[in-house]
Amino acid sequence: MRTRSAVISSVPGKYEVVELELDEPRQGELMVKMAASGLCHTDDHVATGDMRMAIYPHCGGHEGAGVVEKVGPNTPGFEVGDHVVFSFLPACGRCRWCASGMQNLCDLGAGLLTGARPEDQSSYRLHTDDGHDVGQMFGLGTFSEHTTVSVSQAVKISKELPLDKMCLLGCGVGTGWGSAVNSAAVNPGDTVIVMGTGGIGMNAIQGAAHAGASNIIAVDPVAFKREKAFDFGATHAFSTMEEATEVAKSLTNGQGADSAIVTVGVTTGEHVAQAFSSIRKAGTVVVTGVGDLSAIGLPISLGELTVYQKRIQGSLFGASSPSWDILRQIQLYQDGKLKLDELVTTVYTLDEVAKGYEDMHAGKNIRGVVVFD
Ligand SMILES: NC(=O)c1ccc[n+]([C@@H]2O[C@H](COP(=O)([O-])OP(=O)(O)OC[C@H]3O[C@@H](n4cnc5c(N)ncnc54)[C@H](O)[C@@H]3O)[C@@H](O)[C@H]2O)c1
Ligand SMILES: [Zn+2]
Ligand SMILES: [Zn+2]
Repeated sequence: MRTRSAVISSVPGKYEVVELELDEPRQGELMVKMAASGLCHTDDHVATGDMRMAIYPHCGGHEGAGVVEKVGPNTPGFEVGDHVVFSFLPACGRCRWCASGMQNLCDLGAGLLTGARPEDQSSYRLHTDDGHDVGQMFGLGTFSEHTTVSVSQAVKISKELPLDKMCLLGCGVGTGWGSAVNSAAVNPGDTVIVMGTGGIGMNAIQGAAHAGASNIIAVDPVAFKREKAFDFGATHAFSTMEEATEVAKSLTNGQGADSAIVTVGVTTGEHVAQAFSSIRKAGTVVVTGVGDLSAIGLPISLGELTVYQKRIQGSLFGASSPSWDILRQIQLYQDGKLKLDELVTTVYTLDEVAKGYEDMHAGKNIRGVVVFD
């Protein structure tokens, strides 16, 4: 069928809406009419080229929710009309990682940068009129009126839930929340620094608050983000890591933060090093933010790493298992314990994706969300 999609054709580039041909769902696939898609910073890494995709054009968007319009043949578990949230990572349910409660590391994730099917890295569902394959961001491509996805990336949810908020559970919420709850393993009474309080960082703040942190120190150069951080549970907010580190030490008898979570938009080794200096002995730095994926090296003291027994922990989708964690976060939302409505700063049309990213860079959005008709 025909669909309109926001794509990056070459890098660096901007999202432009084009008409494409979308294939019917095959076995194990769903065709979904998109309801909403969050504008995560990661799709901007595709636009800048920090994240190189296997093919261009590449249809952006990986934080989406919608309504099932067609179910592939011999594909149990889904019906036309079901409401789904996508997980930006596939989960096969059978590999070592899925079987041991680490769905975020499912082996199907290996081909995500191809933009093809998670199960077949040479098979594409979106095409230009002249027959070129078009990548779907992380197998999804949620900046599209319709998309065809693998069931390994679809989580069925109740039809009463607002899809324009549920979409955020497909990446930003779980990534931030889990960075605090799972990867930093925040404990009651902890002092936590969250460095970069955009869409991901605000959820790290919510996660740290849930886990019982006493002091949650937000760091962001943008005044609007620092003000908003208090709504999500921050107890302090500063524009620099120097100030945050000083306060973390003053709150902990000079020791430093128990954990520092790095959720800066374009994360560099220097950011990780600043976080590393802010934590106490045996403390944890969680690295969730992404920058140039090919960059190598961290300017940290190896002595401090060993002698102070510090830990640097990477975090993908907040070390969550989306099949369960997305439903758990819905429960928290329904209980009034997880803020989703408050994360959405601005609503855009599909044609305004590029403007949404301009606004993100201008520091105007916690999360911009594209809402489809
Ligand atoms: N690991 C994962 O699974 C995963 C998932 C989603 C997103 N991400 C990455 O997380 C990062 C954050 O994404 P987002 O959508 O929240 O982006 P965002 O643009 O909404 O937020 C980033 C924030 O960092 C702030 N910032 C910039 N420089 C800073 C500095 N020196 N110190 C402190 N703050 C600074 C910005 O003002 C902004 O508020 C991106 O790199 C994104 O690609 C990772
Ligand atoms: Zn994302
Ligand atoms: Zn798996």
